[in-house]
Amino acid sequence: MNVETFVENYYVERKNTDSLKWDLLEERFGDADLLPMWVADMEFKAPDGVFEALTERIQHGAYGYSFVPDSYYQAFSDWMEKYFGYKVDKEWCRPATGVVSALYWFMNCFTAEKDAVLITPPVYYPFFSVVNDLNRTLVTVDMTDNDGRFELDFDQLEQAIVDNNVKLFLLCSPHNPAGRVWTEDELEKMLAICDKHDVLVIADEIHQDFALHHHKHIPAPLIADGKYRDRILLVNAASKTFNLPGLVHANIVIENPALRQKFDDYANQHIMSEKNLLGHIATEAAYRTGKEWLDGLRHVIEANYDYVKKELTTHIPEIRVCDLEGTYLPLIDLKGFLDPNDVKEFVQDKCRLAVDYGEWFGAAYKGYIRLNLATHPKLVKEAVERIVREYEKL
Ligand SMILES: Cc1ncc(COP(=O)(O)O)c(C=O)c1O
Repeated sequence: MNVETFVENYYVERKNTDSLKWDLLEERFGDADLLPMWVADMEFKAPDGVFEALTERIQHGAYGYSFVPDSYYQAFSDWMEKYFGYKVDKEWCRPATGVVSALYWFMNCFTAEKDAVLITPPVYYPFFSVVNDLNRTLVTVDMTDNDGRFELDFDQLEQAIVDNNVKLFLLCSPHNPAGRVWTEDELEKMLAICDKHDVLVIADEIHQDFALHHHKHIPAPLIADGKYRDRILLVNAASKTFNLPGLVHANIVIENPALRQKFDDYANQHIMSEKNLLGHIATEAAYRTGKEWLDGLRHVIEANYDYVKKELTTHIPEIRVCDLEGTYLPLIDLKGFLDPNDVKEFVQDKCRLAVDYGEWFGAAYKGYIRLNLATHPKLVKEAVERIVREYEKL
């Protein structure tokens, strides 16, 4: 599906629909009249197959307690095998009410208070919250922006693990907001270090379906022919991929039977929630029917990114639009023409945009903004034109 067809078929206005992104601007930014380019969901309807499956269930009229059926696990496993070469056994899977929920469960289940947990900023801000909220010890290894490509220093990573006696590594793969799709070599280096020092790994792979252009996402359990699979707690979801996050459903995959048992014991005591009927219905339908839709969406994201990069760098020589190998959320460095302390005033008060600010992802990244490009090209154009116009007035 080309960009025009996708946008024509699926774009939808979301204002006044209890949308966090559109209707909580006053609460979150102190200003309701901003163009929202923040938070990672989309202005696109989910695939037709999702709409049909939900509609059928809604029309049934009774929404009683449910369970996740075998057909769900088959659809999930088929998706993982077809697109990532990962054959997922139903036994390894546990449904979760969202990826962030799973991060909190894992942290509670597999670490103790004060245990050191490693993250690699700039990174999705709940990675900080889950460590801090649960009184674990936060250890950070900042990634370096090498001319728009964010990279990790593996010696530094290992040193931080040794120095702080790190127990758990929170891996974001692909990495939001660094925009990296980790290579096999990088993943192998990270996992080998974790293995050497007996560090457990949570792999948050919610952005797995957004490896753009020629980049290829590899699920962490497959690295080195599965050598590290026993220390990996994988969590992914169809929510980011198919614009379903309001249905709060995600997949936990734990191959190691001992870790799985530990998780089940934890769940028996602490996770008393039932299954979200509509969440797993939508997810199964998305895996079964959503591929063409996803290809169309990827074209939209790639075209939006190419446009943003070209327009901004043509009109603003001092700006840097970071590489986007994966996700739909590029970082843009404004430090070339703005003092980091002036970025918010420029972006919010002058450009009238709601964005995610770099410092939300790590103190060192003040001066960057993150733009959400999973939206109508006309909104991306509007955002870019505002930035260029206000830059020219400086
Ligand atoms: C890396 C990462 N993990 C988790 C989430 C959110 O997952 P959920 O909505 O399932 O809690 C996001 C959303 O942007 C994300 O970028």
